[in-house]
Amino acid sequence: MADNKSFYITTPIYYPSDKLHIGHSYATVATDAMARYKRLRGYDVMFLTGTDEHGQKIERIAKEKGMSPKQYVDNIVAGILELWKLMDVSNDDFIRTTEERHKSAVQKIFKKLYDQGDIYKGTYEGWYCTPCEAFWTERQLADGKCPDCNRDVELVREESYFFRLSKYQDRLIKYIEEHPDFIQPVSRRNEMLNNFLKPGLEDLCVSRTSFSWGIPVTFDEGHVIYVWIDALSNYITALGYLNENDDKFKKYWPADVHIVGKEIIRFHTIIWPAMLMALGLELPKQVYGHGWLVIDGGKMSKSKGNVVDPRILVEKYGLDAIRYFLLRDIPFGSDGNFSNEALINRINSDLANDLGNLVSRTAAMIEKYFGGQLPKSTVTGDFDGDLKRVVMETPLKVEEAMDKMLFSVALTEIWKAVSRVNKYIDETMPWVLGKNPDKKERLAAVLYNLAESVRIISILLRPFMTQTPGKIWEQLGIKDGVLTAWDSVKQWGLLPSGINVKKAEAIFPRIELKAKPENNTVQVKQPDTSTLQESDKELTQEQYITIEDFARMDFRVARVIKAEKVEGADKLLKLELDTGGETRTVVSGIAKHYSAQDMIGKNVILIANLKPAKLRGIESRGMILAASQGENLVLAALDGEIEPGARVM
Ligand code: ME8
Ligand code: MG
Repeated sequence: MADNKSFYITTPIYYPSDKLHIGHSYATVATDAMARYKRLRGYDVMFLTGTDEHGQKIERIAKEKGMSPKQYVDNIVAGILELWKLMDVSNDDFIRTTEERHKSAVQKIFKKLYDQGDIYKGTYEGWYCTPCEAFWTERQLADGKCPDCNRDVELVREESYFFRLSKYQDRLIKYIEEHPDFIQPVSRRNEMLNNFLKPGLEDLCVSRTSFSWGIPVTFDEGHVIYVWIDALSNYITALGYLNENDDKFKKYWPADVHIVGKEIIRFHTIIWPAMLMALGLELPKQVYGHGWLVIDGGKMSKSKGNVVDPRILVEKYGLDAIRYFLLRDIPFGSDGNFSNEALINRINSDLANDLGNLVSRTAAMIEKYFGGQLPKSTVTGDFDGDLKRVVMETPLKVEEAMDKMLFSVALTEIWKAVSRVNKYIDETMPWVLGKNPDKKERLAAVLYNLAESVRIISILLRPFMTQTPGKIWEQLGIKDGVLTAWDSVKQWGLLPSGINVKKAEAIFPRIELKAKPENNTVQVKQPDTSTLQESDKELTQEQYITIEDFARMDFRVARVIKAEKVEGADKLLKLELDTGGETRTVVSGIAKHYSAQDMIGKNVILIANLKPAKLRGIESRGMILAASQGENLVLAALDGEIEPGARVM
């Protein structure tokens, strides 16, 4: 029995592929965030990931490449290990199913199940999908194709061993019904019960003779153990189950949570628990099925060619930005769309603007007003109470969310605190206090409160970001230790006065998108925090516009109802626009690119509250959007039908 201060968490073991994409990184980073969180909370954590290296597909690819399967997987696994290093994944062990410690234990498991009658010999007949490494019964096929990937399947018939899965059906149903936390989220639980368990389970084919790249059945030459018994066992073989040293097994089993993607929940909540029941072992406390990271609604897959390479993203935007985006943008149980726009938005608004500016402004003001020495707080004033309340409530909210695996909720709570602290700067206006020598004590208190808030926020970020907290501590002049421990967030005022605060480079550079869209590159620009201007307004305005600034711009869909050339001006067209119930005239410099005839009936994007201007004696009310580059000009388009008057946001 695992003791209650230990925490065992796993990712699936991945199929070796040189194309591990951002979807795999998503699952692994989420697991990592949970592992880090539990360590911070004082748990003795065992975080396991690894690779699932056997099977016909690997055997075939290796052959095509003229390598042995082992050579082939060794290469790929090296790349996967590098990827997890790049992503700062803090796994405590990495299990490869080709390792001796795994193979010998799986053979013992298989033999034990055979000896006690849970595995028996029979004949397998069914449909096999090689890319998915899945066998299907006739009725499971979708129009004769693999129901998972829709590709062709082949009929195979061979002597095989079977696991008596059907025997465990009733016990499984009972277990799942009595343990509401076992399958999470709840929707997945109902799906398993209603779609798979209640209709009835068939015994499972667990050996093959048609290929040899697998763990041999010790007592029947020619048979290799087929995928699920091999793969699922990794969660216990890594702990030393049935090996000489099983200390870890005693310490960590049963697992606290297996994190799995939604397509393999079925294996983890039916086959795996049945195997464990047969072995007389406890079941994992939870199987959490997360959603998929999709691109334009479709699953990323190597064959579709729409995979996003995490290495490139990390290189372009930095690791913490990617980790933040994955965990913040997508509720863990649901599918989420990956897009560059969404990523860049998060980086610019949440990271560069909200968090980054908070840190730089705090450090810069302590430098400017107190020569970089954190002052003592000796007075209190307006807004202090609310600031402390919000900051001090945040840890509990983060803990509550994390305990339910709600990463994006936890981050949202942290960002509420970030916003509250930024607002405190606007409310207390340190640059005004700085001009009045009588307000020196108040200024000191304000800056202390800011620094202390930043310290607390930096600690709350630790499960999610691996580099940023350290960068913040460096600016605050503190070292990893008591002042950065999780429990220290529950105490206000730990930051000692007198420490040396030092402003450094912006922790999150803003991503500037180049204007030219066909040049699909991004430029990373450091916001200029190198000088603090005497005109203290610089501090609050920065070079960004706020969402409120943006909201002041009234962009609308307008339809061109009339168009004509402007007499004596070869560039101008005079347009009559329907803006949804109103018509107005706009003069537009597009005549060299669009004829009056071209324009009639077109939907355009209008900036409707632009100050009216007279062009060639005609009052133009607003401007329509177009992109231009050298000689080229094209109108900004709306991607679909929409009525005039609709707001563009
Ligand atoms: O299934 N978004 O391995 P695998 C989110 N070897 N998660 C994704 C994803 C995406 N776009 N693409 C893949 C296997 N995943 C077996 C597991 S466990 C005993 C054996 C997730 O490499 C997927 O949902 O195909 C799954 O949980 C994991 O990556 C491994 O997938
Ligand atoms: Mg898969």
